[in-house]
Amino acid sequence: WAIHAPYVAAINALKAQRNAVILAHNYMTPQIYHGIADVVGDSLQLAIKATEVEAEVIVQCGVHFMAETSKILNPAKTVLIPDMQAGCSLAESITPAGIAEMRRRYPGAPVVTYVNTTAEVKAASDICCTSSNAAQIVAGLDADTIIMTPDKYLAQNVAREVPQKTIVWWDGACEVHEQYTARDLVEFRDWNPGTRIIAHPECPPDVVAEADFSGSTSGIIDYVTREQPERAMLVTECSMASNISDALPGVEFIGPCNMCPHMKRITLEKVLWSLHSLEGAVEVDPEVAAKARVSVERMIDLSR
Ligand code: 13P
Ligand code: SF4
Repeated sequence: WAIHAPYVAAINALKAQRNAVILAHNYMTPQIYHGIADVVGDSLQLAIKATEVEAEVIVQCGVHFMAETSKILNPAKTVLIPDMQAGCSLAESITPAGIAEMRRRYPGAPVVTYVNTTAEVKAASDICCTSSNAAQIVAGLDADTIIMTPDKYLAQNVAREVPQKTIVWWDGACEVHEQYTARDLVEFRDWNPGTRIIAHPECPPDVVAEADFSGSTSGIIDYVTREQPERAMLVTECSMASNISDALPGVEFIGPCNMCPHMKRITLEKVLWSLHSLEGAVEVDPEVAAKARVSVERMIDLSR
C-alpha cells in the first residue's frame, strides 16, 4: 500500500476538484477498489448507479462497454475511461450484422443481449441483460424462443435455469471464464475437500454444474459474505478474492484464478492521468445511444 498511497491521495484530491465520481467494477485491483472508488459493484449495479450520478464527471474503472453504458444512461456527463483499449472478448465477438443474422435465422424471436457489447449491438437488440438478471429477463419475455447474444455459456446456463424457454445463442465467450474446465474443479475438490466452489455464469455449463453456487460478481460476494465458508474457491477473475478477503478473515480463499487482461489495463497511474487531462472521454452517437438506452432501460425496469 505504501507505494500506492501518493497516487491514492492525489486521485482523491483531484476527484473533488473535478467534481468526479469513480465507478469501479468488482474486478478492479484492491488499490482501486478500496483506495479510490466511490461505488463498487457488478455490471448491473454500476449501470443503475450511473443513472443517479449528479457529479459532472464519471471515471469508469472497468472496461469500455461499461463506460459506454454509463454514457448511454447519463449522456450529459463526461464519462472517462482511463484506458480506451480496455475491451472485452465478448464485446468483440459480435456486431449489429450478427444480430441481424440471428433475427434472420429465428424470425420473430426477441434478442436478449448481454451488456458486454458495444452501443451499436445494444441498439440492434430488444433488451439487455447482465449475469445477475439474465434468467429473470428471459423468463419474463412473452416468447417461447429467445435469442441470447453474445455469450454462449451464459445462454446455456440460463437455458438450464429457465427450461420452459427455447434459447438459441451466438457463439461468443469470455476469454477469462472459458479457460476453466469441469475437470479442474473435480480435481480441486478431491484435493481440497470441504472447499466451497463458486463460479461466474460466464463459465461453461459443466463448470457451473460442478460448483456449489453461481452468480454475478456481486452475487458471489453476497454468497461468500452470507455463508462464510472456511475455504472458498472463486472461479472467476483474480481480484475478486483479493478485494473481499480483508473483510472476511474467517474465509480462506484458495485455488487458481484467471486474470482479465482488459480489466487490468486500468491502473492508478492511468486514473490520475485521466482526471488530470480529462482525456479518454467516451462518446456515443446520439441516435445509437437513444436506441441502446431503450434496451438497457428495459432491462433495468424488468430487474427492479
Ligand atoms: P458481472 O456483471 O457479474 O459483474 O460481470 C461482468 C463481467 O465482465 C464478468 O466477466
Ligand atoms: Fe470481458 Fe471476460 Fe474480461 Fe469480463 S472478464 S471484461 S467478460 S473478457
